[in-house]
Amino acid sequence: MKKAIYPGSFDPITNGHLDLIERASRIFDHLIITILHNHRKNPLFSLEERIKMIEKAVSHLDNVEVQSYSGLLVDFAKEKDCHIIVRGLRAVTDFEYEIQMSQTNRLLAPDLDTVFVTTDMKYGYLSSSTVREVAYFQGDLAPFVPAFVADELKKKYSGTAASGTD
Ligand code: PNS
Repeated sequence: MKKAIYPGSFDPITNGHLDLIERASRIFDHLIITILHNHRKNPLFSLEERIKMIEKAVSHLDNVEVQSYSGLLVDFAKEKDCHIIVRGLRAVTDFEYEIQMSQTNRLLAPDLDTVFVTTDMKYGYLSSSTVREVAYFQGDLAPFVPAFVADELKKKYSGTAASGTD
């Protein structure tokens, strides 16, 4: 059975992530979405909130499960006896960061390969951070995230955003 891990911070899950998950779930027999800590980021949503949102968003996919891990991705992969990491490539700007991560992981675990899947062009510049920014300013989230994720974002930012001239 070919299994793969799709790691990320998913803060929150976007339609771009979902596009990639659906593609990867067709390529691999089993996909483990794993929420990990990115030390460059301070998450808006708690781990529990992110797990719940992802589980709801992927409930139509039988071969996908959601897990979280606190530690190195290579250690999680070893625990799961999994040798394939899936990451999305949107625009060329992703490449440097992604190649750095995949090479670091390979030095740490030589039998671990990273497979890059390109997202649909319409999600080429979509990221969780831009979605959070649109939510902060109470913009329309419909093109970016599932409706229930939009609701969670609105709750997070209710009463905080201000718009108008400075
Ligand atoms: O969605 P993101 O934030 O781009 O995902 C990055 C993530 C969480 C996959 C990466 O930061 C990660 O693997 N964190 C776990 C710690 C680790 O293994 N670091 C070494 C890889 S550079």
